[in-house]
Amino acid sequence: MIDLRNVTKLYDGQQALNGITLHIEKGEMVFLTGPSGSGKTTLLRLIYRDEIVDSGDITVAGWDLRTLSPGSIPYLRRNVGVVFQDFKLLHERTVRENVELSLRIQGIPHHESRQRVLATLKLVGLAHKADAIPAKLSGGEQQRVVIARAVIGNPAVLLADEPTGNLDADTAREIMDVFKAVHAKGATVCIATHDANLYRHSGCRVFALKEGAIVP
Ligand SMILES: Nc1ncnc2c1ncn2[C@@H]1O[C@H](COP(=O)(O)OP(=O)(O)O)[C@@H](O)[C@H]1O
Ligand SMILES: [Mg+2]
Repeated sequence: MIDLRNVTKLYDGQQALNGITLHIEKGEMVFLTGPSGSGKTTLLRLIYRDEIVDSGDITVAGWDLRTLSPGSIPYLRRNVGVVFQDFKLLHERTVRENVELSLRIQGIPHHESRQRVLATLKLVGLAHKADAIPAKLSGGEQQRVVIARAVIGNPAVLLADEPTGNLDADTAREIMDVFKAVHAKGATVCIATHDANLYRHSGCRVFALKEGAIVP
């Protein structure tokens, strides 16, 4: 589902990623870990085609990202949901509206999108807050909304960058349960975190990055 071969990414002549080769199976859940600055966010941004590799090959959900035309990027992104810290919720809209937005942009009829929003809010455990404003929710509840928004289009791949970074340990565990529920529905899930508690005992593969390379 996600394939990188000898991928290198430079920023201002400095190597952020250096010869990354990894293969993530369809339906697999994996973790990316490593200290701050080791390249986790850069790797996720390459998979989302927010950044372009400088060398090497990268394919995601059957798309060759090196040759992908800018016009095809929106189609790739329908297959890749993201939980990134800089993708903020709209605080003047309800939970339901935040989650529904991408379906409305795609022109999906209201009666259909309403059903899908409800099913997705149930999946993340937030159906009872559909009409709330995100600002009135706890940090953990807001993160559930962000995950619902990322998976409403039923993407094959879900990427998350430090999704529990601002949460206490109990809430972090609850959020991990939401990712497990999304994974159980068949998504390929890739979570970047420096919190070992998230992946310890998970049985998932963990890719450790150090200075832009995978630690063997
Ligand atoms: N947009 C950018 N411009 C310049 N340098 C960047 C940019 N993004 C990341 N870097 C550099 O790339 C390296 C990897 O960063 P990053 O992927 O954010 O690591 P992590 O997410 O593991 O903390 C760091 O040295 C960082 O300073
Ligand atoms: Mg990061």
